[in-house]
Amino acid sequence: MLGVPLDLGQNRRGVDMGPSAIRYAGVRERLETLGYNVHDHGDLRVPARYEQESEERLKHLSAVVETNRTLAKKMDEISSGDAIPLVFGGDHSIAIGSLAGIARHYQNLGVIWYDAHGDLNTAETSPSGNIHGMPLAVSLGLGHESLTGIAGEAPAVNPENIVIIGARALDDAEKSLIQKHNIKVFTMHEVDRLGMSEVINQTSNYLSHCDGVHVSLDLDGLDPIDAPGVGTPVVGGLSYRESHLAMEMLEETGKVTSCEFVEVNPILDEKNKTAEAAVALIGSLLGEKIR
Ligand code: ARG
Ligand code: MN
Ligand code: MN
Ligand code: MN
Repeated sequence: MLGVPLDLGQNRRGVDMGPSAIRYAGVRERLETLGYNVHDHGDLRVPARYEQESEERLKHLSAVVETNRTLAKKMDEISSGDAIPLVFGGDHSIAIGSLAGIARHYQNLGVIWYDAHGDLNTAETSPSGNIHGMPLAVSLGLGHESLTGIAGEAPAVNPENIVIIGARALDDAEKSLIQKHNIKVFTMHEVDRLGMSEVINQTSNYLSHCDGVHVSLDLDGLDPIDAPGVGTPVVGGLSYRESHLAMEMLEETGKVTSCEFVEVNPILDEKNKTAEAAVALIGSLLGEKIR
């Protein structure tokens, strides 16, 4: 386990407390009960917000780059051997570093992006200038070179190795990018039509050529009723039950090699409900069964 208490990829205060909230919700005990030998690497050091300069198009760029560079190195180390890296955010911009570090260990890393958003913006297309809306684009090699360069020469992920699940708030430029690169997306429309069970079956088939799969779960993929503690909530989301089914079925595929749970914001939460949902989902993703 590794916490990355970064909140500079977005505007709301409090997401830097996500790793603590997830730990307090009992993640370690939960995994030990499942028989895992848990190693907690603690929290990565992150620059303080009050020391940072902010530009309009790429807010807090240098601090986000610095954090993700350190994270990529750390993830590279943690990914060696048979460990299953489990990262706690922090805002979603940390996926830049985690994917950059993990991807070095795979020929064809699959990525499941469980999120209300596509996070496929660049400085030019972003409506907010918030880097947490850009990590999937960056991981494809699109965006400011100080961000794309974190992965090294080649992008961390190929467009055909990505599946987005739960999308319901895509910006126009993100829609064009999805079309251009033919990225697989199960929007809420497809989830409702097919059901989550079929969505995960298709996801698993789609990524069957991948030698590893990283699950990047933004808690705002869930409906705000089940996960109110997020900075950019969008109504009409994935339910707690659907999300558990998704995690259980992904575990059954035996293909998941790493994961991250991001955007938990305790200041906006109701009695740590969102961190508790995250921990329950981590349990399912790592093998917990109802019976
Ligand atoms: N699309 C919007 C933006 O780029 C929202 C992004 C929300 N991203 C997230 N990781 N919660 O500003
Ligand atoms: Mn390595
Ligand atoms: Mn999101
Ligand atoms: Mn996101």
